[in-house]
Amino acid sequence: MTRKILVLPGDGIGQEITAEAVKVLEHLRREGLDLELEQALVGGSAYDVHGTPLPEGTLALAREADAVLLGAVGGPKWESLEIAVRPEKGLLGLRSGLGLFANLRPAILYPQLAGASTLRPEVVSGLDLMIVRELTGGIYFGQPRGVRTLDNGEREGFNTLVYRESEIERIGRVAFETAMRRGRRLCSVDKANVLECTELWREVMTRLAADYPEVELSHMYVDNAAMQLVRAPKQFDVMVTTNMFGDILSDCAAQLTGSIGMLPSASLDENGKGMYEPIHGSAPDIAGQGVANPLATILSVAMMLRHSLEAPEAAERIGRAVEKVLDDGLRTPDIFAEGCRRVGTREMGEAVVAALRQ
Ligand code: IPM
Ligand code: MG
Repeated sequence: MTRKILVLPGDGIGQEITAEAVKVLEHLRREGLDLELEQALVGGSAYDVHGTPLPEGTLALAREADAVLLGAVGGPKWESLEIAVRPEKGLLGLRSGLGLFANLRPAILYPQLAGASTLRPEVVSGLDLMIVRELTGGIYFGQPRGVRTLDNGEREGFNTLVYRESEIERIGRVAFETAMRRGRRLCSVDKANVLECTELWREVMTRLAADYPEVELSHMYVDNAAMQLVRAPKQFDVMVTTNMFGDILSDCAAQLTGSIGMLPSASLDENGKGMYEPIHGSAPDIAGQGVANPLATILSVAMMLRHSLEAPEAAERIGRAVEKVLDDGLRTPDIFAEGCRRVGTREMGEAVVAALRQ
């Protein structure tokens, strides 16, 4: 059966890094994986052509596809646009339009890159944690929202944090099942001491735990979780949290590894269809220079093979190929260290393909 993949390079370095990930997909296709690739515009580059960051044609192609590979969106060029047409709205529109409620963000420290973290090696070595972030609800999408003018003429900004039980339950199930496949420890992060909405979150997670007796569930307030992540991150196996807390904690977790250029992510719907993207942004400061690290995007392809294309062996091979190029000492500038060989985006991508050939 032919699997359709929609590639959305987006903005900034998105163009360069997805080009390398496509080389990996093309290689797998030559080996016999039945893939069909298509490309479309999203983000600022879509706004420039169509006046919207998420053209209907792009959303339609994404709906038809079995999986979507996204580079990154955004950049200074579009920062002064009104919020409704900013590049980020393209990303948020894809998430909600495709029902991608479950965001998996692993933070893994590669032993080859142990020196890249700003934390002491003994704190982070061997780190392997997974953040499961709710992605289509919470304060990101809650209504009402906006800026209004009060009777006295002063303006007031407001957003709404809202979760239905069913929304909490479905992300909870993804998290418990993820924990079952890993170390069977799940930490649910909330602010139940202050926010009623996350008091409900805690209650639903606790109820769900009865269905997963092998998983050890714990709860943590988000402020403490942020502190624990930098104090002793290896205490965590899987964390599950709301959209906004997950946004913040996943950046924190990424920095533990010191190499945000290495971390992939998956955003999944109810049926395992997904959008896959590196967790870093469009890095406008280095865009077009051919120095961006394509490995996070290539590792996103591995997640795609595992979660949406039922090709776990190919996913494993990509993981090993990435380890091989790191073992060989190839480094893009973001992960460069003394004694290694500095390479650009293209050379790194091609080295992964070469490692796959072996
Ligand atoms: C992320 C990003 C996005 C988010 C932005 C670009 C809308 O920070 O994927 O973490 O806030 O979700
Ligand atoms: Mg973020």
